[in-house]
This record gives sequence, C-alpha cells and structure tokens, in this order.
Amino acid sequence: MSHPSTTPAAARFTLDSAFGIGDVHPRLYGSFVEHLGRCVYTGIYEPGHPAADADGLRQDVLELIRELGVTTVRYPGGNFVSGYRWEDSVGPREERPTRLDLAWRSTETNEFGLGEFMDFCAKTGMEPMMAVNLGTRGVEDAVRLLEYSNHPGGTELSDRRIAHGAKEPYGIKMWCLGNEMDGPWQIGHKTAEEYGRLAAETARAMRMVEPDLELVACGSSGSGISTFAAWEATVLEAAYDQVDHVSLHAYYEETDGDRDSFLASAVDMEHFIESVVATCDHVRARLKAKKRINLSFDEWNVWYMSRSEAATPPDWDKAPRLLEDSYSVTDAVVFGSMVIALLRHADRVTAASLAQLVNVIAPIMTEPGGQAWRQTTFFPFAQAAQYGRGRVLRVEADSPMYTTAKFGEVPLLHATAVTDDETGEVTVFAVNRGQTSALPLVIDLRGVEARAVEEHLVLADADPEARNTLDQPDRVTPHSATGTTLTDGVLRAELEPLSWNMIRLTGRQD
Ligand code: AHR
Repeated sequence: MSHPSTTPAAARFTLDSAFGIGDVHPRLYGSFVEHLGRCVYTGIYEPGHPAADADGLRQDVLELIRELGVTTVRYPGGNFVSGYRWEDSVGPREERPTRLDLAWRSTETNEFGLGEFMDFCAKTGMEPMMAVNLGTRGVEDAVRLLEYSNHPGGTELSDRRIAHGAKEPYGIKMWCLGNEMDGPWQIGHKTAEEYGRLAAETARAMRMVEPDLELVACGSSGSGISTFAAWEATVLEAAYDQVDHVSLHAYYEETDGDRDSFLASAVDMEHFIESVVATCDHVRARLKAKKRINLSFDEWNVWYMSRSEAATPPDWDKAPRLLEDSYSVTDAVVFGSMVIALLRHADRVTAASLAQLVNVIAPIMTEPGGQAWRQTTFFPFAQAAQYGRGRVLRVEADSPMYTTAKFGEVPLLHATAVTDDETGEVTVFAVNRGQTSALPLVIDLRGVEARAVEEHLVLADADPEARNTLDQPDRVTPHSATGTTLTDGVLRAELEPLSWNMIRLTGRQD
C-alpha cells in the first residue's frame, strides 16, 4: 500500500470533439428488479403502505426511481428466472399459486407478476427488459411468453393477456436468453455447447414470432470463472447470427482491508469489457460476419458477496431481508468509477443494468411501512443518468500513479467526458482514487467549445465510511466544490481525496 504524502502532481488530459468514442445509448442507465429478498415485496410493491397507490406500488419509491433517471429494468431475474413459471404470475391474484423459489430459498406468492411489472414500467417510464427461463424451461415456453406479451390478439395466449386486462400488447423489445447459465449454482446450469445451441434455437423461434427483437445471450457470470472467454466464444459460434448482445456481470467488494485495490476495481472492469469485445470480434472474424455483437453489462455493482454467503440462508420465508448492503462513501466512489468504465466503452456497451434497484444491493432502500431513502450510490448514478448523455470523448489522461496489491500501478485519476454536439456543453466525470491527498486536475479544452464552469459537484466525506441509513437518511449528499476555474481554455480543479466528481461546462452561446 502506498499513498502520496504530499499533494501529487496534477493529472492532465485534453478534450477534442474530433476524438469521440461513441454515443451514449440511453439503455446504459438501466436497472434490475429481481424476485429476490425485498426488491419487489416491501420494495416497490407494498399494498397498505401509506404511500402505496391503488395498485400497491409505493409512490415514494417510484418518485426516487424517476429521480434516479433509470431507463430500463431487467426482470424477473437473475437466478430467480431459471425456475420462473410466468403463467403463475398472471391472471386473478387469488388464483395464482404460491411456490418455492429455489434460487433464493424463499416463498414466492406471485402476488406481483408480469402485469404488475408492466404497470410499474409504465408508471416510471422505464423500458422492460424481460428474461426467459432457459434453466428449467426452453424454446416453447419462451415463445409462449412472447406471444402472451406481444401478440396483438386472436390467439389463446394473446387473448388471455387481454382477458387479464391488458388490451394493448406489451411490446417488449429486449429479451435476455436465460441468466448466468455458466454458473454451477444456476438451476438448469449448462455447458457452453448446450447453452449455445439452446440460445440459438430459442432466439430463432422467438424471431419467428417477431423478427426485430433485441436478444441478449448469456456471457460468463464473471470474468473470474474458469470457463470465461471460452464460454463466450463457444456460445457465440453457435448463436452469432441470432443474437445482438452478449451479457457481462461483475460485482466488486473490498477484501482483506485492501482499499487501494478496491478503489481500482474499474481497472478490472475495463479489462473485462475489452476481453469480451475481443472475443466477440474474434468470433466475428472466424464467421466472416458483418454484424458486430454489442455488450449488455446487465449486472454490475459493489456487492459484499462474501458477507451474503456467510449469512444464514432463509428458511423459505416470504420476502426475507437478503443482500441488503449498506453503501459507504468509499463504495460510492468505486461505483462511480464503474459508471466511468461503462461510459469509456460506450461504443460497444450499449446496454447496462445496475443490479439491483431497491433494497437488494440497491441505490434505494425502504423500510416496510416506513420511509424510503437514497444510498450513497444513488448520487453518481443519478448525475450520470441525467448529464452523461450525448457523445463520449476520448480521455487519455496523464495521471500520477499509486500502487495496488491486485493491479500494480494504477492512475489516481479515472475520468471520462461527454459532449452534447448541438450545444457544445461538456460534462466531465472524474474519480480521485487517492485516499489521503487532493488531486489537482488540469483539462486542456482546446478542441471543445466549452465556455464556463456551470457546476462542480462532489461526493466525498471526511469519514470514508459515512453512509445513509434509516435513522440518518441524508447523512451523505453531494456538495459543490469551490475553486474550479476555466480560463483561456484551460480548466483547473482540485479533486478531494477519495471523491466522485461531476464538472459541467456550458457550451457555445446562441
Ligand atoms: O444480483 C444478484 C444475483 O447475482 C443474480 O440473481 C444473479 O444473476 C447474480 O449471480
């Protein structure tokens, strides 16, 4: 572990609108709702709560979801989807069966199902991203769910949806072909050959119903698994023509008190993204295909997985408290760095889902019958979702380095920038990974039309363990930085130790 004892030299980069990476796809700011713990029950859905609407959706939570700026929502899992029987979740509530959820050793009442999920999407303005069960089920079930959801009417299944109160088809465009099928923990876990063939055949049949769907094949459940990269190559060899995206999942946590390495987690995340891009393009070359496969980073977050694994498993409880991580300022800085990693690869990462949305490793927490609040991770996401739009510019930073046990020498600065080509506005997102010293930042703006500093917001705290809780829901919020200047085309700022920063610059004047 090594920390600079005095103020380090400045980190520097130049922005030039001629050097872009790609447009930010709105789906980069997606999320994930799984039937897991209290994400659904007492998270988004709690009939009888003072803030619940007539459909049992908590308005206080919906308000926070809108503020968060989430664009898509993956559903219903996660591991849960590999045992999912969608028919159980539709139709009159009193007729829906209660079942064992094997993935999370919980009891699923099916009180909240597909129709309720679609209402939730409509009320929050989020695009649904539906997963089909390729664990215990297969081609026929995927096609039946698609027909129930998207066919206008006149067939048994589409008429069933209409009889259930949804006259208009749901029009779900994006579908995940299973979840983490490489993982031995997954119900119906498969080899790459088995899954590749099943994914291809499922996709082919789904496209017979609706050709212009966007389909996501399961990549590896993580880059650490022994089959990583070989899995992607085999699956794509089988399903290349039928799918549009391959999925990536990554979770990070601080282990053995090694905060320096934890703060550098995005080094691993960027390496992961680049490895999957390389694998997709390798298969493209082998198949002599024109089409490029893009990346759906549909599970990413900080997750103290080792603590979840050490906890006593639930005993078939309904909506047990599972994976309810409380996030510190340090976690939020790493989380912000993960957002930066996604943006820096916006040319190929065209969808992403923060896992998850409420209560379960989530930016929004709720108390049953009580209030809802924002975790520290809420703020980097909300700022990026609002202002991280437009075109990502290439940032090649010259930064002072620090030493980490896991990743060797790592830059103290992790940054990206986006521009709105119409207005010339520029927004910089930057993290100072240094724990003890402020980091001077100098940005040469010679190639962009930014004129003045609109705002510089910071998430940092004298206590890196500070967090928001039920008792202190507003303990951590972003504050404005002072002393950020733009003079003669050069921006100068000081990034507080261990901080997430958003610096917005005004564009040209009309
Ligand atoms: O997000 C929690 C779990 O993590 C998901 O159910 C699974 O896909 C992943 O392993």
